[in-house]
Amino acid sequence: MQAFLAPAKLNLFLHVVGRRDDGYHLLQSVFRFLNYGDTVEIEVRQDGEIRRLNHVEGVPEAIDLAIRAAQLLKQTTGCTLGADIQVTKHIPMGGGLGGGSSDAATVLLALNRLWGLNLSRQQLIDLGLQLGADVPVFVFGESAWAEGIGEKLQPIKLEPACYAVLTPNIHVSTPAIFSKKELTRDTRLAKIAAFSKGYGHNDLEPVVCSMYPEVAAALDWLKQFGDARMSGSGASVFVELPSMEAANKVVAEKPSGMRGFAAQGLDIHPLRENANEQLGSR
Ligand code: C5P
Repeated sequence: MQAFLAPAKLNLFLHVVGRRDDGYHLLQSVFRFLNYGDTVEIEVRQDGEIRRLNHVEGVPEAIDLAIRAAQLLKQTTGCTLGADIQVTKHIPMGGGLGGGSSDAATVLLALNRLWGLNLSRQQLIDLGLQLGADVPVFVFGESAWAEGIGEKLQPIKLEPACYAVLTPNIHVSTPAIFSKKELTRDTRLAKIAAFSKGYGHNDLEPVVCSMYPEVAAALDWLKQFGDARMSGSGASVFVELPSMEAANKVVAEKPSGMRGFAAQGLDIHPLRENANEQLGSR
């Protein structure tokens, strides 16, 4: 088995600028990866079968994005090889940290190499978009300014940073948040200027806080340490801190009823560069 990191992401900024005819929302967002994530282990099978070795609570194999990514790549390319896939989850599921999307992107990037397919990054991004709006950025593999529904990506340079990330033990439904009539779907671009001045913002935050008091409480608690914000459609919230020591201390003191971890910003996806492609093997 070869092991690969599927990093978590934070949305440092998320502004909803409109809605497409199909109901998907047009966004402007800043994505930053973290050096914390799931572990995806893969072994090529010669018999063409794609098998999931692990059980994921609440995620049947048929809807597991990591498995669907492998199937999509196989169907698209006609590759005759298969794969055993094992995902060890560390990223809270449904937490706005991109766990399932990152697992899927890691499978696309890793199998492109292991199956010798030589698809371009753009071809993999297009496949990723068929799996979900957050998959393309993980294939893109760099801190990014995103537009469209998340598929129009430009690299962005971010300062090194450490974060404390807390996830209340609740499930936030992304479609329910996006469909709320209270959500602002502002087409003005003023908030880009706000981000470039260093102010973070997430348009989904007030909607999620009004529906889930647990998220509002986590944000209130985290605000004593700095400019705390929500990632994606929640439930995770985060704050930037000056060191890993400070971030670990915040996580150690977190209130009960939530998970937490400390992590550093990761500029490049480990699979983006050949030298760092493989985290380990066994
Ligand atoms: O693409 P993904 O499966 O991650 O999206 C889940 C749901 O979130 C979509 O079905 C849609 O209701 C909502 N969504 C949206 N606009 C986006 C991303 C997601 O409305 N840009």
